[in-house]
Amino acid sequence: MANESVSVKMDGPKAEYKGRKLRVAIVGCGGIAQTHLKAHKENPAVEVVAGVDVRADRLAVMRDKWGVPESALFGADLASGKTLSETAWRDMLRKMGDKIDAVDVCTPNGWHCQPVVDCCRAGKHAFVEKPMAMAVAEGRRMVAAAKAGGVKLSVGFQQRYRPAFESLVEARDAGVFGDILFVKVRRLRRRGIPNWGVFGRKELQGGGPVIDVGVHYIECAYEFMGCPKPVAASAMTWRYLGNREEATHVRCPWPGWDWKTYTVEDLAVGQVRFDNGAIMQIETSFAAHVKENDVAEFSAMGTKGGCQFPTGEIFTDQNGTMVNVAPAYLDPAGDGWDALFARKLGNWVDGCLKGTELGASGEDGLNVQRILNGLYDSAALGGREVAIR
Ligand SMILES: NC(=O)c1ccc[n+]([C@@H]2O[C@H](COP(=O)([O-])OP(=O)(O)OC[C@H]3O[C@@H](n4cnc5c(N)ncnc54)[C@H](O)[C@@H]3O)[C@@H](O)[C@H]2O)c1
Repeated sequence: MANESVSVKMDGPKAEYKGRKLRVAIVGCGGIAQTHLKAHKENPAVEVVAGVDVRADRLAVMRDKWGVPESALFGADLASGKTLSETAWRDMLRKMGDKIDAVDVCTPNGWHCQPVVDCCRAGKHAFVEKPMAMAVAEGRRMVAAAKAGGVKLSVGFQQRYRPAFESLVEARDAGVFGDILFVKVRRLRRRGIPNWGVFGRKELQGGGPVIDVGVHYIECAYEFMGCPKPVAASAMTWRYLGNREEATHVRCPWPGWDWKTYTVEDLAVGQVRFDNGAIMQIETSFAAHVKENDVAEFSAMGTKGGCQFPTGEIFTDQNGTMVNVAPAYLDPAGDGWDALFARKLGNWVDGCLKGTELGASGEDGLNVQRILNGLYDSAALGGREVAIR
């Protein structure tokens, strides 16, 4: 019998949460932090108690929308609007001390490593948005700091929480695909160069579409493959639109990006080899002359079957016939943007409070970082294959 009528929703009082709360400070209170704040607000086990940003207007939103007292806001002066410090999480650690348990880092990529290292060393759990960092050495420092501080470190990958991904992983574990031989990742935007933040600046982001959008599908494809050891990468990257003013005159969803400071790639094509002989191919762009405006997918071929994500389709043989199997039902609510963030952040909160296993740990983030930087290292050598260490 169903627990609850499906035709009439009965809204009763929710049971009051009586457990321990995770007291979180947000470092970098910009665009994506707003989605994090929403997820935290809806999680009764979280209390956002502090905010750090170099911009006073961002701190004002923390105070006015999210109710964080001015005394717990760091990095800029709300009255004058001036930036006070670019490393204000250190002031926050000094002044808040035992009043915070964890930090949620949503700064641009170039500012991921140091706040995580300082906060983990101070015994605070850390969540860091994707990509983990700009370089493998930074990722290693972050993982080491979390270990030294005895705290949980998680990286902001949300594609793995899609219902279709979970159903494909179950099929993989049941042996439906056999050995996975080849995976192809495609994360292509026709003209989708971010016109906010610093996404076009290599020195602050570490790269363009590979590290910013490709990373999501590289990560979940890699997880789907069962995380074999990456051994070598080869890639080419090209920049031909983002740094040209005339390209900004084309109608597109995010016009007017800063073409003058654009130093990252528009398009990258690469390949990663793994120690089990499997191969991952990657195509990713902010700006490429393709038919579709936005492609976000991976496909896989195994010895017994293949699949496609995010459709969740499986291609195999059954009773002497080649069949294409599509899921008849996957929870559509589970694919929503807010739902994915609620799950990825909730996973970290549970890990911090209850010691449960993290979805994407610091070590997982570091493996992905090694792949990203392998691709960039090869591109810097004109596409020659490089060893991934
Ligand atoms: N998981 C996802 O799907 C997803 C989506 C968007 C962005 N992101 C990631 O989130 C991060 C931030 O992206 P965004 O779109 O929110 O950018 P954003 O520019 O909107 O926000 C970044 C914020 O960090 C602040 N900041 C910069 N330097 C700082 C410093 N030294 N100390 C404190 N604050 C500082 C900026 O003032 C800004 O408010 C990036 O790493 C990006 O890759 C992830």
